[in-house]
Amino acid sequence: MEVFPVIDMEKLEGNDRGAAMEILRDACENWGFFEILNHGISHELMDEVERLNKGHYRKRREQRFKEFASKALEDASSSDANDMDWESTFFVSHLPETNLYEIPDLDDQYRKKMREFALDLEKLAERLLDLLCENLGLEKGYLKKAFCGSKGPTFGTKVSSYPPCPRPDLINGLRAHTDAGGIILLFQDDQVSGLQLLKDGQWVDVPPMRHSIVVNIGDQLEVITNGKYKSVMHRVVAQTDGNRMSIASFYNPGSDAVIFPAPALVEKEAAEKKNEVYPRFVFEDYMKLYVGQKFQAKEPRFEAFKAVETVSAQPIAT
Ligand SMILES: [Fe+2]
Repeated sequence: MEVFPVIDMEKLEGNDRGAAMEILRDACENWGFFEILNHGISHELMDEVERLNKGHYRKRREQRFKEFASKALEDASSSDANDMDWESTFFVSHLPETNLYEIPDLDDQYRKKMREFALDLEKLAERLLDLLCENLGLEKGYLKKAFCGSKGPTFGTKVSSYPPCPRPDLINGLRAHTDAGGIILLFQDDQVSGLQLLKDGQWVDVPPMRHSIVVNIGDQLEVITNGKYKSVMHRVVAQTDGNRMSIASFYNPGSDAVIFPAPALVEKEAAEKKNEVYPRFVFEDYMKLYVGQKFQAKEPRFEAFKAVETVSAQPIAT
């Protein structure tokens, strides 16, 4: 069996750099996911973020979730519709502007630590993007710049809990999807598993590992790399025991960033046969489409934008 790719980022500074970059390349091309250790974010900060989040769930969200849960189970057992997720979640935005101070039920310590954590994650995401540039043969800073738009990147965190579920056969923790954005950094529970990715038609567990960060590729990186790197379907399977914590941070393009395949990665013959080249679009237009189609395959989304491009490339009849 293939081994889930784990990269010790300290090795990127030493003699084993080549081997670590090779694991990264293989992960980006063949898994869409990898896990990193020694990423530079302090373990004390991670422990504190975990403690604060688990406390926040118990104090502020557990009761509300229980009310939702009994209704969700009733609905799931009485119909075939599979349109619910067994999760309690809220979203914190960091860039271009933070909403941390507008979310009413957070205390000062939570806000302070989440802000610190988000700043570290932002730096880490940019460091990872440059490692990807290096592996892709793109100039340093290319991907960061591609995400920039007029106000810089969009960066936000989805804070989720997946409480124990008595009937995981009836309801998913989170239904299968690819992520729409750029690069995603996940701080996941080190005790309660559940995250799986689809590889070669099989669901593979993303193993919990203390103080690691799980990284995955979103649809935008697939477009910019012209399919060299792929966003991969993943899901959360609800568990009968344990409350899974998941803190996923999305480093995405700015809303008005124009996304298109890096010219250096579009092979000549593919450019001539236009169909093999990924489309060009404005990121916020992609997100408008994604909102209604998150749990569907990504390919029709790419095709929809190719169709728009073909139409707009037609000469205007006079
Ligand atoms: Fe996701």
